[in-house]
Amino acid sequence: MGFFFNAARGASPSKPRAAKKHIPVQTMREMGCKACPFDHAKLVTPKMRPSGTTRPSLYVLGEAPGEEEDTKGEPFVGKSGRLLRSCFDRDFLEDHVRIGNTIRCRPPENRTPETPEIECCRDQVAQDIADTQPLVVVGAGGIPLTWATGLTNITAWRGRTIVAKIGGHVCWYFPILHPSYVLRKQSKYGKSEHELVFEHDLHWIQKNYRRLPEPHFYEASYDTGVTLIEGDGQRDLNKLEDILNRLRDAPSVGVDIETSCLRPYAANAAIYMCSIGTFEDTVAFPVNDPRAWNSSLRRKVEGLLVEFILESRKKVAHHLGFELEWFMYFYGNRIANLTEWEDTMAQAHTIDERIGVLGLGDLTSQYFGFDLKAQSDVDPKRLLEYPIRDGLRYNGMDAKWTQLLYDVQQPIVCTEPELVNEYERKIRLAPALVLTQQKGIGVDKDYARSLQEEMAVEIKGIEAQVMACAEVKKYKQKYGEFLPSSPDHVAKMMDVICDRKEVRKEGGGTTSDEGALSKIPAKEVPSAPLILELRTISKLQSTYIDPVVSGRIIYPDGLIHTKFGSMVAITGRLNSEDPNVQN
Ligand code: URA
Repeated sequence: MGFFFNAARGASPSKPRAAKKHIPVQTMREMGCKACPFDHAKLVTPKMRPSGTTRPSLYVLGEAPGEEEDTKGEPFVGKSGRLLRSCFDRDFLEDHVRIGNTIRCRPPENRTPETPEIECCRDQVAQDIADTQPLVVVGAGGIPLTWATGLTNITAWRGRTIVAKIGGHVCWYFPILHPSYVLRKQSKYGKSEHELVFEHDLHWIQKNYRRLPEPHFYEASYDTGVTLIEGDGQRDLNKLEDILNRLRDAPSVGVDIETSCLRPYAANAAIYMCSIGTFEDTVAFPVNDPRAWNSSLRRKVEGLLVEFILESRKKVAHHLGFELEWFMYFYGNRIANLTEWEDTMAQAHTIDERIGVLGLGDLTSQYFGFDLKAQSDVDPKRLLEYPIRDGLRYNGMDAKWTQLLYDVQQPIVCTEPELVNEYERKIRLAPALVLTQQKGIGVDKDYARSLQEEMAVEIKGIEAQVMACAEVKKYKQKYGEFLPSSPDHVAKMMDVICDRKEVRKEGGGTTSDEGALSKIPAKEVPSAPLILELRTISKLQSTYIDPVVSGRIIYPDGLIHTKFGSMVAITGRLNSEDPNVQN
């Protein structure tokens, strides 16, 4: 019996559990097995050793031993292990792979390991990784992902290489799905999507681990080399000019702006701050921040900024469409025509087209070992509420790390000509999309208003038909109110009143989504197709008609300026938002 359930002390069962929460993680790590709640006596193989070569290229890290592993005394030798091992070449497995787990003892009933167990075991597991120095730790499932990197969401991260520092050893961490999850998701009709993904990831890492760049893990000093210029008179302007002069010939500089709102067409649109620089040397300065400069110095700052953009070499943004749209709006289309830009988000999307992990904070976690967005409390949407230095620091770090990210991702893009083509296509597309956005779309408000009235009449008519249906009347008798727009009311009516199996979900509960309602024949339940029709019209009204009539999506120039994106749809087609003009 371990530390938390110390029966010898005569503690009541609830007390040790309360104590569990209060033991600092550091203490758990230092105490190791002495603090671990597991009852080692009940195990065949407590403190199971990893298996495989002691000089591994790949170190597979699982969650915890299962029953078969405990009996045989070796990690991954049960059903999951067989699936895992089948994805490796036999010789490769023998010569290049070591296999271990985040915790070394089998948890009761194979349950998921908990924090105290993980932390008490951490140092021993990390030590083995540090001793054996693998190039890549291949982590199976969410537990090792968080253990090694602090990240969550295995579905988003699987198949990506993430830098990690484990027991002092810096290496790549490569998350894969856990094989037991893959086994649970097996399909009757050939290999499931999860099996294919699992195999793909393991084959990919075996083929590519030697080609990965050297990993770099950064700790602390995230704002080193960032000069903050607060906009306090001529001396500050001179200082800014000096720094921009020395940055002009850098092969590439990161550029980032902080703005008053998302789009430059709004009434209050202003570029508050800008940062420009390299990893070693970055300057962050106010542009049209009302707290800085006087109006004549502000004009000079804008002059310096435009001159720099036109005359410097490559400029790197993270999500180029944003920076370009603002610069082109305020400083003219020459910004797009005469300058050379790169985009770290486009690089990331070219390397891996899955959406979800494209933010600057995600990418610094992936390539540098820390989340940039966690290094400052500033919320850029409320920039003026923070001291100007805090805002500048936030802004400056973005440019600094964007530039380094560009340098790290570009060799990966350049590994395949197809990737280079795709990346360049995205870069060429950015100014074209901004020009299209700028042009805007005129709207006929009177016509929208008449459509709104027509739709209101139509909605009322269908609602009346729904309310006249026998099943709705029965529902009202039993439960009182029935709202056709309420998914809960609709699901309950279809389930309880109409006894329709279509709305019952496999794992329990009910649904009234389109998939379910469209399967119910109108002859049997007349309200089902009517409710679907009602939803279609209401959606059109609330998404497209109401925002036009209320003016919410119309800018002061009387136009709609949709925003196009090339990094949202997985098929590579464009997407459009605010509003989606493609519908
Ligand atoms: N699952 C794991 O995570 N590890 C093993 O060793 C076996 C199954």
